[in-house]
Amino acid sequence: MTEGTQTNQLDVSISDLTDNMFIVSYTGFTDKYRPMDDKTCKWVRLNFKGSSAVIIRASNQSTIPVEEVEPGDELCAIKQLPSSLANICKVNRKLVDELKERGFTSFKVNKTSQAKPKQYDLTEAIDNANRFVQTIKESVKLCKEATTVVESMIDNARQGNTDLKEIEHQVEAITSGQTSEAISAIISLKENDQVYAHCIDVAVVFQAAYNEIVRINGLKSVFKDDKELMLAAFLHDIGKAKVPKDVLDSTAPFKRDSKEMQLIRTHPEAGAKLLESMGMPDYICNMAHYHHVKFDHTMSSSYPQGVEYKDILFETKLLALVDAYQALTAGRSYKKSWTPPAVMRYLDATAGVEFDLNLWQDFQKAMGHYPRGSFVKLSDGCYGFVVTVPEKEILRPQVAVIRNADNEDLENHYLIDLALDKDITVAQDIDVKEIYGDKALEVFTNVSIK
Ligand SMILES: [Fe+2]
Ligand SMILES: [Fe+2]
Repeated sequence: MTEGTQTNQLDVSISDLTDNMFIVSYTGFTDKYRPMDDKTCKWVRLNFKGSSAVIIRASNQSTIPVEEVEPGDELCAIKQLPSSLANICKVNRKLVDELKERGFTSFKVNKTSQAKPKQYDLTEAIDNANRFVQTIKESVKLCKEATTVVESMIDNARQGNTDLKEIEHQVEAITSGQTSEAISAIISLKENDQVYAHCIDVAVVFQAAYNEIVRINGLKSVFKDDKELMLAAFLHDIGKAKVPKDVLDSTAPFKRDSKEMQLIRTHPEAGAKLLESMGMPDYICNMAHYHHVKFDHTMSSSYPQGVEYKDILFETKLLALVDAYQALTAGRSYKKSWTPPAVMRYLDATAGVEFDLNLWQDFQKAMGHYPRGSFVKLSDGCYGFVVTVPEKEILRPQVAVIRNADNEDLENHYLIDLALDKDITVAQDIDVKEIYGDKALEVFTNVSIK
């Protein structure tokens, strides 16, 4: 392998071709191209349409459009391949086999191919991304434990026992380290069929969003610390303890005017009463009481009826937004989950009706356009998980790439920072479960960036 004339190009033989290369020109051929017979000539014209051919004709070398090659010409190179021929430029195993069979022996390739990003110094970002994935692994276990604790907390409250010791212990575990961020990144990946896991997911997203919005706007948090903040969000649905368990655990959707729905609609008021009796601060009670009030409080889905949006606390408004985000993102047995970016687009459409527009904009800044954990397809055709959302460029996250443009899983994952690599953009968000099914979470927790 030798350096080409341009700094970012290499001269390579067929045996040197690897998945992270992009062929710029074809430079070596077997004898069947020197000279070409009629059949070979036709094949070259057809398959390299739009390129330039360097040929020797009557002992003279010249560069001509490939469509003008003739039998008897000796082919020296094919270059300036148009983008329409990307399929014979982007190196993959299938292409290498075909090239071998066709008699192509050497090439000029671009080191900074479409299959691998430019080499920026991403050492710190890679360490952070790997640490983040590691935390996700740990948080999966923590999430399961916390779900059980929330369930027993609601069951205990049903019996009139409102001891919060265990839940406080869970809050402590989750608020330490990056665990809450990790849990919020896997909402759409884990099986999440219960009201109990909902409380945890709402709490972790609320914590991330609230802290960020408070920081961006220079506000003062009403909460004593992160533990109280998370506890408040954890407890927002505690009034569901007053809803019969069979209604609560039902996996079927209820009709809007059904008896079951009426029972469910009592949970905010019941929750606030319960929390008041436990001596919780006003803001925590407010969050439980009014988290289903909509910006347009006349909507039938806004309850308790008669309460106006302007009269509820900022913390409660944010909780309502997070509640909706979680409900749409998490998979339920009776509905398909949406990808986090799809949820963000949906909420964007409802902002100003269901939620306050300014609050929505702050939430968007905090979560990014592609929240952490989103699975995206990049403009170069590769796929990966969003691991970091930059503060300034919410459309340009850092992505851990795990799958190439030919839909093959990569052995070596790599990190691409779209804020640095401006040639590549997020082309599309993908439902990761459509590709990996039940293994989606496992695939995410096995990301390892070299
Ligand atoms: Fe609720
Ligand atoms: Fe809720």
